[in-house]
Amino acid sequence: MTSTAREAQTAPSTSSQPLSLRRLPVHVAIIMDGNGRWAQARGLPRLAGHRAGTENLRHIIDASLDFGIKYLTVYAFSTENWARPKDEVEGLMNILEEVIDMEVPRLHEKGVRVRHIGALEGLRPELQRKIRESEALTRENQRMVLGVAFNYGGRAEIVHAVRRILAEGLRPEEVDEARFAQYLYTAGMPDPDLVIRTSGEQRISNFLLWQAAYAEWYFTPVYWPDFDREELRKALEEYSRRERRFGRVPNPKP
Ligand code: FPP
Repeated sequence: MTSTAREAQTAPSTSSQPLSLRRLPVHVAIIMDGNGRWAQARGLPRLAGHRAGTENLRHIIDASLDFGIKYLTVYAFSTENWARPKDEVEGLMNILEEVIDMEVPRLHEKGVRVRHIGALEGLRPELQRKIRESEALTRENQRMVLGVAFNYGGRAEIVHAVRRILAEGLRPEEVDEARFAQYLYTAGMPDPDLVIRTSGEQRISNFLLWQAAYAEWYFTPVYWPDFDREELRKALEEYSRRERRFGRVPNPKP
């Protein structure tokens, strides 16, 4: 979709939370940060923060559907997260498995297509199987694509793409930006227009390095479990006020 087509788009209204924006992002990506600090502030174990974050994700998916977002990608487990304590890593793996068991049927009913963004290798076989099955079950769904970045790292993704290109024997002149993007985990998805990071951190943290080249960034101090529908609405409103240039000069005044 061209940037002009995107700019012409307006958010649909919903009965509960009308949104009337000049421009709605087609693809929103979120770094769901601050679960640990949310838990710590309440004297709870870190995993309780991840559980609260998971509950919140459910609400944000529903809000995104209501607001008319077509692609939502969330960063759930990075390649660097393997270095966390064993019980936290184990807990996050269990959460993903539970989310698949409990939520995917519900997402399927709502017309959401689930896509795994990241490497399957390294995940336990049962989890790999469930991820593949969720993707297969929901692949025809059209209402929204939910990208779950799990065992994902932006640099690893680029190296993985280069390896596949070399293995397929492409000639140098056959590789351009569009072709390269087809070898990324996000193949076929538009680039994110808006990337949100919660919890006050202002870093990219190896997330969608290639795809976010022209994304607008929105940082908020709110911890992920507290980032509710109203917070999402604020981010979308802020996005709609930004002028996107894609490296060009501003539009000349008429
Ligand atoms: C960052 O907070 C969050 C994560 C590493 C995990 C995000 C996972 C969820 C929200 C659960 C949803 C999961 C799935 C599988 C769909 P942090 O732990 O780095 O927080 P901190 O910076 O405050 O320590």
